[in-house]
Amino acid sequence: MGKVRFAIIGAGHIGKRHAEMVTGNPEAELVAMCDVRSKEECNLKTEIPLFRSVSELFTSGPECDVVSVCSPNGLHAEHALAAFKAQKHVVVEKPMALTKADCEKIIYNALNVHRHLFCVMQNRYSPPSIWIKSAIDSGLLGNIYMVVINCFWNRDDRYYKKENWKGKKDMDGGTLFTQFSHFIDIMYWLFGDITNIHSRLRDFNHRGSTEFEDSGIVHFDFINGGIGSLNFSTSVKNVNFESSMTIIAEKGTVKIGGQYMNEVVYCDIENYSMPQLPPGNPANDYGAYKGSAANHVYIIQNVIDTIMGRSQITTNALEGLKVVDIIERIYKSGEQISKKMSEI
Ligand SMILES: NC(=O)c1ccc[n+]([C@@H]2O[C@H](COP(=O)([O-])OP(=O)(O)OC[C@H]3O[C@@H](n4cnc5c(N)ncnc54)[C@H](O)[C@@H]3O)[C@@H](O)[C@H]2O)c1
Repeated sequence: MGKVRFAIIGAGHIGKRHAEMVTGNPEAELVAMCDVRSKEECNLKTEIPLFRSVSELFTSGPECDVVSVCSPNGLHAEHALAAFKAQKHVVVEKPMALTKADCEKIIYNALNVHRHLFCVMQNRYSPPSIWIKSAIDSGLLGNIYMVVINCFWNRDDRYYKKENWKGKKDMDGGTLFTQFSHFIDIMYWLFGDITNIHSRLRDFNHRGSTEFEDSGIVHFDFINGGIGSLNFSTSVKNVNFESSMTIIAEKGTVKIGGQYMNEVVYCDIENYSMPQLPPGNPANDYGAYKGSAANHVYIIQNVIDTIMGRSQITTNALEGLKVVDIIERIYKSGEQISKKMSEI
């Protein structure tokens, strides 16, 4: 097989990052990009052809093997379905879609055309994530008693602009979809599904800039045992203040912290010494604000390895669907609790 040929839908912040990673990989080739905006508007400095609609990409564009969907959240389902209709493998940026029903449609279509679907959850590749996953899977921590995840970030008017999709209910979906789905993915990957969800959601200081909550306190049971809570906010002044996960378990206690869960800040496990972890990649830097770990290089490599038959998908469609399902249930619980409170 020759090089794996990629086309990218959405030439914004993350689409350009995908383009960089594909171009930098000797086994990959970037053959086309697609955006409703022009090259100048996208600030695209490349000779790669840009198609101005998805239908034009698939009718007039060059042959490709993989389509990376890097458009706004609310368009992921439509664009993934169009790519499967054109018989391509699909990489879909997080979140996979904005409803579980749309995720199911995507999976059904992928299976129908026998093509792969890759979800993007690149924080799994950070050294603390790899370490804690193997510690939990090998039973080092024993039974999990309690998990507390705190994500206290800043997203203000530098981020939410009137003309942008961010902050709009139909295109963004909410802070759990756009800012914190990585943490829900890590939680599901490590501890499995949750139930008995109780959410309290509030919009403290984004009434003029978003159509949804900016903060929440959520508690739940893990189906595999133990209890958990997720506390999140984008209302923090000026900085991403904290992203952390504390695990209290039968055989020890671990806290992973740093701005985007890139440091093990506490580890006390019975008969165990914490190894020296390799350094991780920094956060994606968007100027005024920072995002999640700059690990897309591993995602593109996994796509190539899987298509070449050397590996398996690291974040599969079912995992992408579960993240959306958990977020949907958290929001539903928040709506039900607010409704009950307003009736009292
Ligand atoms: N994995 C990560 O850490 C990470 C980080 C940032 C963003 N993302 C995800 O990537 C996606 C894009 O985010 P972004 O920050 O790059 O946004 P962005 O606004 O910078 O880019 C989105 C691009 O999509 C284009 N677009 C809109 N409608 C389109 C259409 N119908 N057809 C083709 N292109 C269209 C826009 O013109 C824009 O250039 C989102 O789903 C976001 O959640 C993931």
